[in-house]
Amino acid sequence: MKQADLIWMNGELVPWEDAKVHVLTHALHYGTGVFEGVRAYETPKGTAIFRHADHIDRLWKSAEMYCMEIPYSKEEIRQATHETIARNGLRSCYIRPLVFRGAGPMGLFPLDCPVDVTIAVWEWGSYLGDEGKANGVRAKVSSWRRISSESLIPSAKATGQYLNSVLAKIESHKAGYEEGILLDQRGFVCEGTGENLFVVKGGRIATPGYTSDILGGINRLAAIEIARDLGYEVAERDIARGELYLADEIFMTGTAAELTPIREIDDMPVGDGRPGEITRRVQAEFENALHGRSERYASWLDVVQVPQPAT
Ligand SMILES: Cc1ncc(COP(=O)(O)O)c(C=O)c1O
Repeated sequence: MKQADLIWMNGELVPWEDAKVHVLTHALHYGTGVFEGVRAYETPKGTAIFRHADHIDRLWKSAEMYCMEIPYSKEEIRQATHETIARNGLRSCYIRPLVFRGAGPMGLFPLDCPVDVTIAVWEWGSYLGDEGKANGVRAKVSSWRRISSESLIPSAKATGQYLNSVLAKIESHKAGYEEGILLDQRGFVCEGTGENLFVVKGGRIATPGYTSDILGGINRLAAIEIARDLGYEVAERDIARGELYLADEIFMTGTAAELTPIREIDDMPVGDGRPGEITRRVQAEFENALHGRSERYASWLDVVQVPQPAT
């Protein structure tokens, strides 16, 4: 992670060091924030944000689910993101929009606290490493279960909900693995700590659906569409834990991790322990889409408009 110069905070670009909040910020105490993880890539048409509209829509949905009204329009947030990237002079970056309950009355009732909005950007390489993207990572099924719809809203990308992923991430890291896989409350496969999961067996692809309390990943949708366009069958269905051990190939998708193969699960090699052919084909097409090398998926890219200097 490389520090940038400016962060957008409630309508203004402020120096990175000055983007601060009060200790009585409601979200610090109770996790009352929603956010997005987005990426922009250098493409032949200039810097472009991958599936930007989908990320903004999900941010709005997450905010709605926690009764937060965002005090800007979607277009204003889109423009602010363009401006933040351009003013930081970045060609490719990770983008973190955050909407949170700010400093106001303490106590669990949040609706009298202000809704603050920030957009930070920074240069960030692949989350699970270039080596992981090329050769696959080692993952472990976590002892922690994914949060369920009985107590939270798994389809919302809310800050407080991430304590679940944090516990699983710490556990897998301490045990010497690159990623943890969470099962849902019923014991079916759900997802990684920050990625959706795909299992390949006998040439067919399967991925858990919303009934497994997944976060509806935007890269998951992209991978499903690409795989189908390549002629593969993709089923959204319950996946038993044992299917992970029987799989020919497993891969994960997420904005941070992009498309990363899993080469070993619970110390057992996946297939022959190397990313398989289907993973490689979907990954190659996915990378083409991210970097603007694919005409077919060109509409997924929001090219950053560089603001003209005032005359
Ligand atoms: C828990 C969780 N699941 C899945 C994903 C993948 O979502 P996306 O592809 O939209 O980044 C993420 C990342 O945002 C995540 O945090």
